[in-house]
Amino acid sequence: MSLIQLTDTQRDIQQLARDYAQRELVALAGERDRESRFDRVMITQMAEMGFLGMLIPEQYDGLGLDAQSYLLALEEIAVGDATAAVTLSVHNSLPTQMILNFGNDAQRAQFLPPMARGELLGAFALSEPEAGSDAASLRTQAIRDGDSWVLNGTKAWVSHGNEAGVILCMARTDSSDARKGTKGISTFILTPDLPGFHLTKKENKMGLRASPTLQIVLDNCRVPADRLLGDEGKGLTYALGSLDHGRLGIAAQAIGIARAALEASIKYVGERKQFGKNIGEFQAIQFKIADMATRITASRTLLHAAAAAKERGEKITRFSSMAKLFATETAMWVTTQAVQIHGGYGYVTDYPVERHMRDAKVTEIYEGTSEIQRIVISRETLAAAAA
Ligand code: CAA
Repeated sequence: MSLIQLTDTQRDIQQLARDYAQRELVALAGERDRESRFDRVMITQMAEMGFLGMLIPEQYDGLGLDAQSYLLALEEIAVGDATAAVTLSVHNSLPTQMILNFGNDAQRAQFLPPMARGELLGAFALSEPEAGSDAASLRTQAIRDGDSWVLNGTKAWVSHGNEAGVILCMARTDSSDARKGTKGISTFILTPDLPGFHLTKKENKMGLRASPTLQIVLDNCRVPADRLLGDEGKGLTYALGSLDHGRLGIAAQAIGIARAALEASIKYVGERKQFGKNIGEFQAIQFKIADMATRITASRTLLHAAAAAKERGEKITRFSSMAKLFATETAMWVTTQAVQIHGGYGYVTDYPVERHMRDAKVTEIYEGTSEIQRIVISRETLAAAAA
């Protein structure tokens, strides 16, 4: 089934996630999508299995897994329900890793154990209505006032922002060069109880409808000074560096969505009869299945090679972007083929493939669009060639 060689632990984690996804997630994924319902029970179940602390060390109540085990679990969860996977990916790859990597001892001790246990869900607030791909142009301001920072601005596209207990928020602490002040951006650990923290617009999305996406308005939001993460002025570097890892998670999610579409197609072509035989007996269909399976396997192989490089401590910016680009474009292509294979039935909600196609689309957009991944890949490739 897979080209990558797994350790016993990795195989066990993969099996645990697969059994859970097939037992608990698949059956209700369509209903959650139709009702745009974020399922807290699902989060509690995944927390009980330790999946909210997959990359958090055991000393902070996490599982302390390697990157590959984490990505294998994410893929299985995404096969069951892509919305569960994005919750896990954002929480595990971005806020928990930022606190682990850049937080001080007190911040780690305060936030990581409840995040690992799933009592606090973590979110990531980088984008703004006018600052998406151009993250460095963000305008939310943080001004120091005694023992606090006062934040004003609007953060956009925050996955599960209304369910989160911890939000890692990038804001401008030095506006001396407003357009390209990449060094004037800092990171703050926000909690929804802070005065001036308001959840506003909930987006009405094409796909991933059971994963809420929020705008957060910070209106003179007073944040204690000890909630500054790491060094003042390094917030953009922290955020972009963390996205190197976040993008691996989105690649795994995309592979899971693509696999769900392939598996649904394999089942369908063995049942659907036209011209007197199963449509799976036609070469036109067999070639589609071959191309879908090949692209999925290539995506997984690239992703796990990038994850292995991360485990070796190598810089993976380029490979993370390649994995995200290739896997997410694969997911869009594979789910489109799956709808085509299902014909009219693929276009209606009787079968899951239309949902898979809608869910796949956003993977080409969030945590950096395909165009941004190409910019990162070309920059890094040219720089490596010049070195
Ligand atoms: N690792 C560490 N540091 C990095 C980095 C990386 N991968 N990439 C850049 N940096 C550092 C740079 O070294 C630089 O630091 P200095 O100022 O100290 O030199 C700083 O960050 C700024 O980098 P650039 O000069 O390269 O910045 P840029 O303005 O040219 O932008 C970009 C580069 C690649 C276009 C970047 O802005 C980008 O990735 N944009 C997309 C943002 C994105 O993915 N947003 C998704 C938000 S999350 C989301 O989707 C919602 C959700 O909840 C899932």
